[in-house]
Formats: sequence, C-alpha cells, structure tokens
Amino acid sequence: MTGLSSIAAKVNLTGVLATFDDIYSPRIIGRVNDYDVKVAHAQGEHVWHVHDHTDEFFLVIDGQFAIAWREPDGGERAVELHAGDIFVIPKGIEHKPSSAGGAILMFEPSGTLTTGDRHEGDIPAHVDSTTGRDIS
Ligand code: NI
Repeated sequence: MTGLSSIAAKVNLTGVLATFDDIYSPRIIGRVNDYDVKVAHAQGEHVWHVHDHTDEFFLVIDGQFAIAWREPDGGERAVELHAGDIFVIPKGIEHKPSSAGGAILMFEPSGTLTTGDRHEGDIPAHVDSTTGRDIS
C-alpha cells in the first residue's frame, strides 16, 4: 500500500540543477506511475542510440538543445530546441542529442538507459550511461 511517505517533497528544477554539474547524467526528480521524470545538464555531443521499446520525451528547461535522428529510409534530420520547447523521439528511431549548453527534462519509463538498447561506437567520457541517478 502506498503511504504518505511516498509523497515526494516539492522539487524545484532550477534548484536541483544547481546541485550538480555532471553533463548528460540525468537525476531522477519524480516518478509518475512507472515513468521517471529526470533532469540533466547538456553540453556537447551525445552518442547515436536507439530505444527499441519506448518513446522519449524532452523538454528544454534552459539554453539550447538539438536532436538529430535517422529516418527509417536512412535520411538524417535534426531539430534545434530552446527553453520551453518539447520534442518526442519515437521508439525505434536512432537519435543523437547535442547541445551548446543547456538543461533538459526527460519523461520515460523507469529503467530507460541514456545510451539506449543499442548505441553506435564508443560512449564518450562525458556521457553517463545510466537509468538515472537519485538526487542527493
Ligand atoms: Ni535517447
């Protein structure tokens, strides 16, 4: 049974983002049914990857954020996002985030790995391959 203790404290996005500097290392700030709400700092190139079983929701909180993706026919497209913009990458679509500097919120099933079910090449040192870290 779910008790009152499971009701989380109020979370402030700006406040949480100020508690860590790691790039592409999402912190879990809330849970909604079996989904996690995560925030992350973004800077530089992520890695091409794909989530076979879930869409991935992005909201840009601050700065600039871009997502490149590969169409099923092989063509490559990209979208540039800024604070307040949302974008959804459908499941099964290869994608690679990048940023000149910014912060994002993600909403996706618990256990979703930042580097997907598959990724291309080596994972850069500045990309944390994680299902999300708890806020301290
Ligand atoms: Ni992804």
